Amino acid sequence: MRVERKQSVVLVPFLLQGHLTPMLQLGSLLHSQGFSVIVAHTPHNAPNYSNHPQFVFHSMDDGLQGIDMSFPSLVHINCMNKNCKEPLRNYLVSMMEEEGDQLACIIYDNIMFFVDDVATQLRLPSIVLRTYSAAYLHSMLTILQQPEKYFPFEDSQLLDPLPELHPLRFKDIPITTVNNTVQAPLLEFSRSMSDIGSSVATIWNTMQDLENSLLLRLQEHYKVPFFPIGPFHKMVPVASSTSILQEDNSCIDWLDRQAPNSVLYVSLGSLVRIDDKELIETAWGLANSDQPFLWVIRPGSVYGFQCAEALPDGYEEMVGERGRIVKWAPQKQVLAHPAVAGFFTHCGWNSTLESILEEVPLICRPFLADQPVNARYLSQIYKAGFELEAIERTVIEKTIRKLMLSEEGKDVKKRVVDMKQNIVAAMQIDGTSHKNLNDLVDFISALPSRLALPMPVVGAIMSSNHIASKCIIES
Ligand code: UDX
Repeated sequence: MRVERKQSVVLVPFLLQGHLTPMLQLGSLLHSQGFSVIVAHTPHNAPNYSNHPQFVFHSMDDGLQGIDMSFPSLVHINCMNKNCKEPLRNYLVSMMEEEGDQLACIIYDNIMFFVDDVATQLRLPSIVLRTYSAAYLHSMLTILQQPEKYFPFEDSQLLDPLPELHPLRFKDIPITTVNNTVQAPLLEFSRSMSDIGSSVATIWNTMQDLENSLLLRLQEHYKVPFFPIGPFHKMVPVASSTSILQEDNSCIDWLDRQAPNSVLYVSLGSLVRIDDKELIETAWGLANSDQPFLWVIRPGSVYGFQCAEALPDGYEEMVGERGRIVKWAPQKQVLAHPAVAGFFTHCGWNSTLESILEEVPLICRPFLADQPVNARYLSQIYKAGFELEAIERTVIEKTIRKLMLSEEGKDVKKRVVDMKQNIVAAMQIDGTSHKNLNDLVDFISALPSRLALPMPVVGAIMSSNHIASKCIIES
């Protein structure tokens, strides 16, 4: 039963789908625990308010109107972090005046690192949300401590192991490189993202049972309470749609017509783009595998093409009823469908958790950020999937058959079922995620009210001139 707490929390998500979803899910979790939830978001990819009538929404002007933010650059992200300071500060100040001491804290996606400055100035407690695995942040921090040890590297080193980051290799370093070296602005951004400033805690969409030793190591570094309360999408009492793109539900009818445990689901998430060569190799790999498949080709996800027109001529007619291509799928429903037997994925953290919780083993084709780390852990440590060794039609065909038809594939399926059972145990009343959620609720409820702290800060902030520092980008 929901206990009304009279306290509110402000959430600041980052605009990409893979970040927005866990923040809104966290909002639902906190709302179910009695908090009022206010979501302060940027205009691009604004959440659909009608899907979350229980939240209050506030749109902050990020000064980036007219800019294509489907794959935001560092310049855009840094600009957003600069431009949102004043709107957020003004909004919080007016809220604080109206709500008195009921505003408990502000929770922000670590890419929106400007929030820490604003919270510190207003003497408002802030908490960081980590939307990815502990393994990713651990590898990132290790590299940031001594970047010269990793960069630059030679092509010949790509498959060399990094023993201190086992099971990663140079190839899996989760920081994008140019000519095998890292650019200074990206290092700086990675530091800002991993830093917590004066935030008082971090919340994780992961599970203690899965990543305990890495979480402990990270906690030693950050020295604030950690609340791993994942998997969010299963912890929420009622799931609301968080999708930015329109889901094509007709693929569920198609799945209904397929045999149980027969379909490969293919999706590379909300951000990744591939070239037409990779699209064609994937297309033939899928066709030649002879397995039914449901393939998401997101508009704009193939360089130089709008959508699926980059496919070989007559491809869809050739695969016929055995293949179904959509622009965007209701992914959680797809993975939960009894017809689905495998997931060809980029290994985004949301997709990873969604797949495991539906007992669907994976073929890992990672691209950037946390994806290579997730892929290595999935294939080498958890043994819940196979890594795709090369983007070639014969390799793709072979890997699909291995996952769907072989004894090795059955072993991988067993490992996924075991993983799921451990995660489900964490969600039970006496499980770690459940207990950590209760601790988080107590922690937020007991945070000191800012009214106990000096107040002149508010006046000083209102009168200072922030307009001069606004970052402007031509569209
Ligand atoms: C990005 C990064 O790529 C990822 O590595 C990081 O962990 C989070 O940010 P994204 O590409 O969006 O994530 O991948 P992922 O984290 O897997 O999130 C994708 C979300 O979109 C999932 O929740 C998935 O269910 C949803 N989705 C995807 C759909 O609803 N329909 C689709 O057709 C495809």
